[in-house]
Amino acid sequence: MAVGVNRKISAASARAHTRRSNQNTAFRLPPGIFKAISAILLVGLAAWAYQGLQPPAPKICGAPDGPSITAPRIQLKDGRYLAYKELGVPKDEAKYKVVFVHALDSCRHDASLFLPEKTAEELGIYLVSFDRAGYGESTPNLKRTLNSTALDVEELADQLDLGSKFHVMGFSIGGQVIWTCLKYIPHRLAGATLIAPAINYWWPGFSRNLSEVAYRQLLVQDQYALRVAHYFSWLTYWWNTQKLWPSFGAIVRNPDVFSAADKELFPMLAKRRKSYLEIVRQQGEFHSLHSDLNIGFGKWEFDPLDLENPFRNNEGSVHIWQGDGDLLVPVSLQRYIAGKLPWINYHELNGPGHLLYSDGIPDAILKAAFPQEK
Ligand SMILES: *[C@@H]1O[C@H](CO)[C@@H](O)[C@H](O)[C@H]1NC(C)=O
Ligand SMILES: *[C@@H]1O[C@H](CO)[C@@H](O)[C@H](O)[C@H]1NC(C)=O
Repeated sequence: MAVGVNRKISAASARAHTRRSNQNTAFRLPPGIFKAISAILLVGLAAWAYQGLQPPAPKICGAPDGPSITAPRIQLKDGRYLAYKELGVPKDEAKYKVVFVHALDSCRHDASLFLPEKTAEELGIYLVSFDRAGYGESTPNLKRTLNSTALDVEELADQLDLGSKFHVMGFSIGGQVIWTCLKYIPHRLAGATLIAPAINYWWPGFSRNLSEVAYRQLLVQDQYALRVAHYFSWLTYWWNTQKLWPSFGAIVRNPDVFSAADKELFPMLAKRRKSYLEIVRQQGEFHSLHSDLNIGFGKWEFDPLDLENPFRNNEGSVHIWQGDGDLLVPVSLQRYIAGKLPWINYHELNGPGHLLYSDGIPDAILKAAFPQEK
């Protein structure tokens, strides 16, 4: 076939050459010019589309033209840096040592919302909160996988000498990271608390109808954004930066992803977060926000619903906290998980939405995880 095509072209160009033999050579178009032009146009079009799909390089903290470093940082084995913040009582006086994992569009400073000073002192809690890779002042992890944040937690704990076992606590997408700690570093844990942990609708342990019913209650824009993250993760950057169609609600800060109870906390939150809101996305949105969607809602290599109790002899406990008015994390699925894993202490709160830091809740969360010694 290819041979036939070639013959046709050379015959056509031969005729053209004959017809144009009298014309000025300057105007003569070489044979195959239209093919060449369309090829160039096609390559140009592809490059243009590709550029829209390709996230820009991150503005790395500490690089000559990058944002400046203000926090203490540790260097990980792979060369990346993690910025952290220590809260609560001094480490050497602490009864409990905790690593805190923040949510989407958040940073190390947000841990303080869950650590009322008085209760931290009463219970003897030292807590270290860190910027997850790509957020705040921590280097983006271009090779991020499902287990890499759990391994970052372990390295941070070791470099800060938290001992052979420590507690972990995470909120929202950070709560999802706690599932990965239970899977990949269970031998390092003294206890775990998952606060309104994000749920991946594609965890195979859910019956299809159960997760579909919950999924359809999300904002339509979130249903699309999560489908993109799950099925077409290479489109996530483009989807969440294009302006034709609303992208993921929490990324474009659409208040309607939150319940009425959540919205009541907005003024307090705005005031507290004002001084550091700017650093959250300063290195770029792809290796922070979009990566959270791709990892959190992608295909997991394990199912949290299959996990086994890491504390067989009651030497530690695992807690899930969930508001029944949460519009971001469906209570129906959280209940189902708790039902499947009877070793989990499930605390469902009547009334609150996703933001479980209204008066008294953080204290209750801490008191359950860190009982006061008698
Ligand atoms: C982490 O995940 C990667 C990719 O799936 C895998 O190659 C690696 O062995 C895992 N490491 C640990 C410690 O689980
Ligand atoms: C899902 O489907 C199964 C089987 O058809 C049914 O037993 C179950 O009650 C359904 N669950 C929900 C939440 O609709």
